[in-house]
Amino acid sequence: MVLVSYQTLLSTVEHVTDNNWGENKLMRVLLDSDPDDRMPYGKPPLSQDQINLIGKWVQQGAKNNGCNENYGACETTNVQYSVFVQPLIQARCQGCHSGSNPQGGINLASYANVKQQVQNGKLLDVVTRTSNWMPKGGAKLDDCTIAKLQSWINAGAQDN
Ligand code: HEC
Repeated sequence: MVLVSYQTLLSTVEHVTDNNWGENKLMRVLLDSDPDDRMPYGKPPLSQDQINLIGKWVQQGAKNNGCNENYGACETTNVQYSVFVQPLIQARCQGCHSGSNPQGGINLASYANVKQQVQNGKLLDVVTRTSNWMPKGGAKLDDCTIAKLQSWINAGAQDN
């Protein structure tokens, strides 16, 4: 499975457009009850909400239709850590910033770690700067995602 682009996802993951979850290799590895076969390997499974979202994308035709997590209206009020910020950081940052040897010495695995990067001003800085932004080597976070993150920070970056 080569997951670096939409094209490689479609060409290397078997039956990724199949609405039958037993056939669809992507859905199968997310849903597998055996931890040795389930992805992400050695980590807790994706949340049911995240799996449902991917399933919905498949059911809508597995289209190459952009990566705006907030497809549609951008709702920036009452942004919660548990609902928005934590899943965002888990999906886009923790691959490099967790574990015993996090990259750049920056750990983003817990609320306390994230709060520390908010307080020293780096969390917002790294996702908004125009060069060498985070996620490193990846697409910049979309404007709506940044606006929501900013709103959560402005409201006190609470553990809510
Ligand atoms: C592919 C790996 C990777 C991903 C994904 C990634 N980072 Fe980083 N990050 C690094 C590395 C490596 C450094 C060390 C500095 C450098 O090489 O640019 C770093 C440095 C940082 C720093 C310190 C920067 C400074 O100027 O002191 C922060 C804060 C940070 N990352 C936050 C994030 C956030 C937030 C995300 C998700 C939106 C993220 N990173 C995603 C690899 C990554």
